[in-house]
Amino acid sequence: MARLELEDCAHHELCKIHISSDPYEVFQDIDFAFLVGAKPRSPGMQRKDLLSANGAIFQEQGKALNAVASKDVRVLVVGNPCNTNCLIALHNAPKLSPKNFYAMMRLDHNRAKALLAAKAHVHVSEVTRMTIWGNHSNTQVPDYYHARIKEKPVTEVIFDTNWLENDFIKNVQERGAEVLKIRGKSSAASAASSAIDAMRSIFERTNEQDWFSMGLYAENNPYGVDTDLIFSFPCTSIGKLDCTIVKDLDWNDRLRELIVASEKELKEERDLIKHLL
Ligand code: LMR
Repeated sequence: MARLELEDCAHHELCKIHISSDPYEVFQDIDFAFLVGAKPRSPGMQRKDLLSANGAIFQEQGKALNAVASKDVRVLVVGNPCNTNCLIALHNAPKLSPKNFYAMMRLDHNRAKALLAAKAHVHVSEVTRMTIWGNHSNTQVPDYYHARIKEKPVTEVIFDTNWLENDFIKNVQERGAEVLKIRGKSSAASAASSAIDAMRSIFERTNEQDWFSMGLYAENNPYGVDTDLIFSFPCTSIGKLDCTIVKDLDWNDRLRELIVASEKELKEERDLIKHLL
């Protein structure tokens, strides 16, 4: 089925389809990996409830990437809980650079931009400098404080601070659960589109007035976040398959409190899978 639909897209870049359940075979010499194969959550579950079902998959995939992929492979983890699965893959791939492992926060980033654009009645491209900090879970922190609408601070365009502080943040945090409730299955099209957006971001120079959210290995991060986590930060790229954290954004008390809570959750997830690292 996957083969038929891929062929039907007539992608200009699609030269060959190779299907196998053996990661040592399909990862041979690859330059880019989208790790989407994992059990999805069902209604009522949190993403971290999938750790015991999915952790071992990412351990095996990390080992296989380490053994056979290109040494510069860029890896985007989509399967949930994607930050901690990404940490597992990275720890099992010691020959690869931790800098080249990413967790997909772009879906949350795109959701946040779309919600702000709708509220402000502007095109989505006019919402810039959106950041999602932390974990791809309901503790994630959609930061409207540093975002811009038509190059102005969000609060100079949307005056309803109650909506921003409560509805907006909560809607982004819970959007995956809302899709799951309505569809009976987790997001598919928006997730696939965001995965492509995320990988494309490291191929293209980021617009000077903008940045994107990416889950990255937090080693040497400028915000004092625990270094052995995959954590989402605002990032830019010069378009050479690189991704650099944007520095010097101030955290107000509210942001700090939310971001620290998301970091705490990631540490707890890490404690649960220590045996897989
Ligand atoms: C999403 O955010 O839609 C995905 O991570 C799927 C999920 O479980 O919510």
